[in-house]
Amino acid sequence: MIEIVGGVATSHVPSIGAAVDHGKTGEPYWRPLFRGYERARQWMAEAKPDVVLIVYNDHACAFSIDLVPTFLLGVADQFQPADEGYGARQVPVVDGHPELAWHLYESLVLDEFDMTLCHSMTVDHGLTVPLSIMCGEPDAWPCKVIPLCVNVIQYPPPTGLRCYKLGKAIRRALDSYGSNLRVAIFGTGGMSHQLQGERAGLINEEFDAAFLDKLSSDPQSLTAIGHHDYILQAGSEGIELVMWLIMRGALDAEVKEIYRHYHVPASNTAAGLIILEND
Ligand code: DHB
Ligand code: FE
Repeated sequence: MIEIVGGVATSHVPSIGAAVDHGKTGEPYWRPLFRGYERARQWMAEAKPDVVLIVYNDHACAFSIDLVPTFLLGVADQFQPADEGYGARQVPVVDGHPELAWHLYESLVLDEFDMTLCHSMTVDHGLTVPLSIMCGEPDAWPCKVIPLCVNVIQYPPPTGLRCYKLGKAIRRALDSYGSNLRVAIFGTGGMSHQLQGERAGLINEEFDAAFLDKLSSDPQSLTAIGHHDYILQAGSEGIELVMWLIMRGALDAEVKEIYRHYHVPASNTAAGLIILEND
């Protein structure tokens, strides 16, 4: 049986990874952000998941815009960090969990979520930065990882409601797995940010605070937020927040909020982190 040890949602800003990689986390700009990550790392070390399902988006790194799967599951043994234009991050290779990944793939497709199947791909900052945030700088990542990649870069991305329902289907899949494993689910991206255009640099602290509140207490209400509202209120890249709803859908209706951290800015982004456990 699978024990779901918890769900984590966190921003995945690339320069957070660069700050770790270049020893800058103690500098005045980064210190308050990383101080807030200490409690999250402690949770991770105590929760000891065997496998983490990481919901993230590829930023045209592993896949060019010639190929844009809406939902994709990685079933490989290993995933190498992507070269995003300045050399691959010098972080450990990401070990997959093919057996559970294949179980998820079968269960989700038969449950009418037609996932794209991926046997080989690299993983970009969307996946490796959350690992750095939660695990620090180990010689090897302390858990296996199943990448679940979501299109949030080419219109139209899946709706928040579709993502929440996918989370519920993931839960059904996890609940029907035969072997004993401790599993955590990460939703990544967000919170409010816009990287381009006239409103570049947009941050909406009020929207983010309400989103964090509702993610804990009333996630269903967040499924009513449409694409247009995300862009208007949370900026063009704020749409990444739909990935948090996949994580939340996989948890119980009632959850305990274990920890929350919010810091503005991290690069162009309102960096949020929340840890939830089934009640
Ligand atoms: C930034 C944030 C992101 O989510 C991303 O994918 C790339 C850049 C940023 O704030 O710099
Ligand atoms: Fe992003």
